[in-house]
Amino acid sequence: MNALHTFKTINYTKLTNSGTFTFAAPSNIALVKYWGKKQNQIPANPSLSFTLKNCKTITKLQYQPKAEKNISFDLLFEGQVKESFRPKIQKYFERIQDLCPYILDYHFKIDTQNTFPHSSGIASSASGMAALSATIIALEKLVNPNQTEAFYLQKASLLARLGSGSACRSIKGNIVVWGETDSIENSSDFFGVTFPYEVNNIFNNYQDTILLVDKGEKQVSSTVGHDLMHNHPFAERRFKQAHENIQQLKDILKTGNLTEFIALVESEALTLHAMMMTSTPYFILMKPNTLEIINEIWKFRESTKIPVCFTLDAGANVHVLYPEKYKISVTEFITNTLAKHCQNNQFIHDEMGNGAENVS
Ligand code: PMV
Repeated sequence: MNALHTFKTINYTKLTNSGTFTFAAPSNIALVKYWGKKQNQIPANPSLSFTLKNCKTITKLQYQPKAEKNISFDLLFEGQVKESFRPKIQKYFERIQDLCPYILDYHFKIDTQNTFPHSSGIASSASGMAALSATIIALEKLVNPNQTEAFYLQKASLLARLGSGSACRSIKGNIVVWGETDSIENSSDFFGVTFPYEVNNIFNNYQDTILLVDKGEKQVSSTVGHDLMHNHPFAERRFKQAHENIQQLKDILKTGNLTEFIALVESEALTLHAMMMTSTPYFILMKPNTLEIINEIWKFRESTKIPVCFTLDAGANVHVLYPEKYKISVTEFITNTLAKHCQNNQFIHDEMGNGAENVS
């Protein structure tokens, strides 16, 4: 594939010293959802997300030169060996080795931690794969320093995508589009691009409070869910709708029309779950409390006229989205009315953020 070929590192030096990088990368929340993929992590439809700020993975990568060329790493989670994460990281290195052949020259020690509670039901794959990819690109900058910053950012996003699709939207902030679509110039199936058009001030620091409804293991993984979009009776129409919704959202982000924003975002969330419920086999990731919360949000919005809405990812948790200026009243509503529908009354305040950063 031509486009991919341009990201292959051909000339590089081998470092003789060991060293360390630490990067933090945030999670992101999709407004237009990615659901369904082709081979090599190519999305079946374009998606658009807000990058978050507080829900982050912090990854430290130590590299040590070695004589033989192979994939070699130790993996720690919060300082402890974590064998259960190994297969995912092994697969990631196998997928990127062609584009980043220099990784075969080093033994890596990867130590990773999340800022959000372990097994909170918040997907750590987006932030995790983005943070790891940011450290790999930091190494690439040392062994092959001749590229532009734009190239390194695109390649970091591309590597993150190979780890977990939605992770490619966590390298940069604060609104990111992934997947080629006519309405967004320079959009690409290979990496995320920052939304390149005017955005109304109402979206500055847009708030996302994540309600932890169910912290258990999901019954159906995203990988299986994406796969079930093959031969799905509504897939083609859904993929087309995602293009239409991105085009519409482009205008909404400009005008700041929150009535239209809410209608589009909530419809996207329910469409994602409708696709799950109409797959063969069908499945439901929402829980009764997910619906309780949605109904409470609708009631609150109706009675107060505060433009708060919800979105969902591939799970039971609810993301409550609202402009920063309503933070006090919405927090009160969440604490008084919604928290009781969460496991251990837990929720996490987050907001739009700027992507991966070097915290070495
Ligand atoms: O990146 P994955 O394979 O975990 O898929 C994530 C899919 C959704 O979170 C449901 C939607 C999205 O665009 O993030």
